[in-house]
Amino acid sequence: MINTIDPSKDVDGFHPMNVGKMVSGLPAFLPATPYGIMLMLEHYNIETKGKHAVVIGRSHIVGTPVSILLSRNSNPGNCTVTLCHSHTKNLREICLQADIVVAAVGRPHFVTGDMVKEGAVVVDVGIHRIPDETKKSGFRLVGDVNYAEVAPKASFITPVPGGVGPMTIAALLKNTYQAAIGQKGNQN
Ligand SMILES: NC(=O)c1ccc[n+]([C@@H]2O[C@H](COP(=O)([O-])OP(=O)(O)OC[C@H]3O[C@@H](n4cnc5c(N)ncnc54)[C@H](OP(=O)(O)O)[C@@H]3O)[C@@H](O)[C@H]2O)c1
Repeated sequence: MINTIDPSKDVDGFHPMNVGKMVSGLPAFLPATPYGIMLMLEHYNIETKGKHAVVIGRSHIVGTPVSILLSRNSNPGNCTVTLCHSHTKNLREICLQADIVVAAVGRPHFVTGDMVKEGAVVVDVGIHRIPDETKKSGFRLVGDVNYAEVAPKASFITPVPGGVGPMTIAALLKNTYQAAIGQKGNQN
């Protein structure tokens, strides 16, 4: 199905043409969540050069592309990246070596305080509804990171909600705008 999308309108950046361009470092529509994370790191002047980034999760929409973008020769970028998944051994030890942790695991509160070193930058991609009787809705949103445990140790941490989610929307709108401009250009 993705192959049927016109790559010039592929604002999610999932078409193999755009994925290939991204891997090659060529201009491309970048997947919205990883793109949003890179925009956020840039906006807050987070130093990434030479840092060890540990990405937990290797999905095609988040983990794998963010690991590629963080390792590219760019700013933000130039990280040494370790990409972890469900078969990774000693995940806690690996995470403790991370200057930057990107959690895209899909499990609520997966990253705990004992997995993160002092001063680390923590990007929480996960989003989950968990039951909460104190809320009118009966639930609240949490991420893949145990915020209460990790925030006191982190130098920078994204909240859930209000962190990566809105950045994903902003990046998608940016891609859509750029696609529209490109389309206009083609018509002219
Ligand atoms: N905020 C946003 O805008 C946004 C956007 C997209 C996704 N999300 C959220 O981000 C989370 C991840 O999404 P996704 O689509 O990337 O999820 P996904 O496709 O389910 O991928 C999860 C990844 O985590 C790995 N994993 C699972 N259990 C693990 C474990 N115990 N140890 C280490 N790695 C483990 C999996 O490994 P294997 O490959 O070995 O199975 C897989 O690579 C979800 O909560 C999703 O709702 C948020």
